[in-house]
Amino acid sequence: MENQSLQKKVVLTCAQPTGKLHLGNYIGAVRQWVKMQEDYECYFGIVDMHAITMPYVPAELRKNTYMCAAQYLACGLDPDKCSMFIQSNVRGHAELTWILACLCPIGQLERMTQFKDKARKLSEGAGGVSIGSGLLFYPVLMAADILIYNADLVPVGEDQKQHMELARDLAQKFNNTYSPTFNLPEAYIPKTGARIMSLQNPDAKMSKSDKNALGSLYMIDTPDVLRKKIMSAVTDSGSEVKFAEEKSGISNLISIMSSVTDKSVSDIESEFAGKQYGAFKKAVADAVIAKFDPIRIKYEELMTDKAYLESVLKRGAAAAQRRADKMMSKVYRKAGYVDAISSK
Ligand code: AMP
Ligand code: TRP
Repeated sequence: MENQSLQKKVVLTCAQPTGKLHLGNYIGAVRQWVKMQEDYECYFGIVDMHAITMPYVPAELRKNTYMCAAQYLACGLDPDKCSMFIQSNVRGHAELTWILACLCPIGQLERMTQFKDKARKLSEGAGGVSIGSGLLFYPVLMAADILIYNADLVPVGEDQKQHMELARDLAQKFNNTYSPTFNLPEAYIPKTGARIMSLQNPDAKMSKSDKNALGSLYMIDTPDVLRKKIMSAVTDSGSEVKFAEEKSGISNLISIMSSVTDKSVSDIESEFAGKQYGAFKKAVADAVIAKFDPIRIKYEELMTDKAYLESVLKRGAAAAQRRADKMMSKVYRKAGYVDAISSK
């Protein structure tokens, strides 16, 4: 008990293996994780079990998992400071999902906005693809990801608030039904790090699903591609480099500049007072390339060394498994399961 206060808080976050990460992922998520590994006991999961809740291609999932791991490492996640693992490599996520699912009212899952959006998209798609039950249970699996590590803090984007509420509800429900077991995890939503918008439609979030290939800046894009995308970013017909609601294109470029250089918006406005949009875009391109090029180079090097990537993921999974096993043996005991197999 005495050294409880000296123990680091446990941070857990996960992301789906989407393949290429964009500037929004970097600013809104990965950059924060890299900072947090300095102060907390951190677990970062690549959630391949979540990835199969929508139609997918196995070979792509495998490739995207390696790509994501390599990009996280290239951004500065350090295997000596955090545990990065693949969800399906750690036993217990699915088992805890089952136990939590038995406590979770089905109506609460049917009301989840993300479930409704994804289900609608599937049924509207060509031919209407059927909706797997895994999609409905997605938020229970996410609760299990968090509770199995008894995490204190969970860095997530705004869109995950409803899922976080469910994780807390299920923790509470387990604690009430059996006995106090889980901490109630807190969502950690970074205050800084503006929402990065699409370069082609600055009123929509930068996103991988953007139909327009010029809308998103990927960290593994080559400098030429990054420059081309930024130079062709949509702006208004004015010429003043000023942050304003009605100038969403130029404001987005100012946010990007501010995020990658750590300069304030007002410093950027004064630096570019009287300059043309073209000159400003060129400076934004230089700044983004300066940030992303070392990451791309490191990424390419890591992708040629699968054995190293696997060794990092193996070590991460072993650390995650140790913590997960502790929670799962408690959970199984409290649920009334008999353990006739572990050595006593
Ligand atoms: P996604 O794969 O789109 O769910 O993104 C994973 C995480 O990246 C989100 O939870 C956010 O924290 C962050 N993120 C994604 N897109 C953006 C964006 N356009 N601007 C800022 N953060 C973003
Ligand atoms: N649902 C999250 C997203 O789409 C990913 C995720 C799965 C997650 N399990 C998690 C995030 C556990 C935090 C903690 O962004």
